[in-house]
Amino acid sequence: MKFKRQLFGFQDMLRFKKLVPNRRQKLAEGSNTPLPTEYRTNTLAKRLHPGRMKVELVECRQITETLRELTFRRVDGDAFPFFRAGQYVSIQAAIEGSLVSRPYSIVSTPKQALENKLVLGVEKVGFMSSYLCDKAKVGDRFVMTEPSGEFHYETLRDKKEIVCIAGGSGITPFLSMAGAMIDGTEKYSMTLFYGARDLAHLAYKEELEALQSKGLKVIYVLSDEKQEGYEHGFISGELLKKYVDVENCTFFLCGPPAMYSFLKKEFEPWNLPVKAVHQDASCCADRPINAPQTFQLVVHMRDEVYTIPAKENETLLTALERAALDAPNKCRAGGCGYCHSKWIKGKFFVAEGRDGRREADVKFGFIHPCVTYPMEDMEIDVPIGE
Ligand code: FES
Repeated sequence: MKFKRQLFGFQDMLRFKKLVPNRRQKLAEGSNTPLPTEYRTNTLAKRLHPGRMKVELVECRQITETLRELTFRRVDGDAFPFFRAGQYVSIQAAIEGSLVSRPYSIVSTPKQALENKLVLGVEKVGFMSSYLCDKAKVGDRFVMTEPSGEFHYETLRDKKEIVCIAGGSGITPFLSMAGAMIDGTEKYSMTLFYGARDLAHLAYKEELEALQSKGLKVIYVLSDEKQEGYEHGFISGELLKKYVDVENCTFFLCGPPAMYSFLKKEFEPWNLPVKAVHQDASCCADRPINAPQTFQLVVHMRDEVYTIPAKENETLLTALERAALDAPNKCRAGGCGYCHSKWIKGKFFVAEGRDGRREADVKFGFIHPCVTYPMEDMEIDVPIGE
């Protein structure tokens, strides 16, 4: 053992002596081709997460009296990033002196995104949506965020059987989810309950029938009209049990707040685990205050300071948009954290059930302006939209 150690020690010394000449030789033999300026990982990351994209409206189609379908393409000619069926994008536009954004569920499928095609369904409700429904025309350009959101199927969490419940314009994400199931992108079996007032308010009937012929199960429920072959009334627990095994499926809900509260009560007796029911988030609305006061909001944005009005019944994000300040935002529901800003001073109110801040954010004074209302003059520090 002693002899061997000495021999190895001697060989190590020899190798050490040759280290520098060997290294010089390897360097001399090396290629002098310049290093690549783009790496595959970076290119892929950029394709999947392009951030904000410039888009052009290429087609408009009226679906119902109040629902308009808008088709976009990317101006730079790149494909839209692949996304999870059920996700949304946020559209930003300069309208009447304001810089406004709103999130909309994607109607088209993830595969269509790769053909530089992204379709949204816009219901004519509110300032931005009314603009998109009444005034936006082919050729108009907008800024769009990359697809985001947690409202999508998750293999490890969700059951293979999914039950989607749509109310009114809440049908939009389910068209994408059904399309993704039919084209093989997603591997679930989907049953869709679609509630509307009457036949005239059922959107995308033709498209749903085409998907039905390929394997989608659809149950239409009309509340104000009786029609043969359609269920009548509301989408109740009893009706769901008539068609699906409620304990062996995962529910996805998208519709008006009244539908969520009604279904919450209907689901109660079943004691489903929290992960069995997913609900799409809706934008935070104005507070119902009679004769709201207007406060002063001091806004720091990088090196600039602005003093703008902020109404008591509107979120801080709305005040920023009215002043045409490009504040980052996506979900407008308190969940994504994209509008995350630093509170400096002034009392505020966070919309009930919308406080998606982490404990550390609350402790160190961060707020989400999309769900925060001023209660007096305030001062905040907002990141700029990238
Ligand atoms: S925009 Fe998503 S949390 Fe404010």
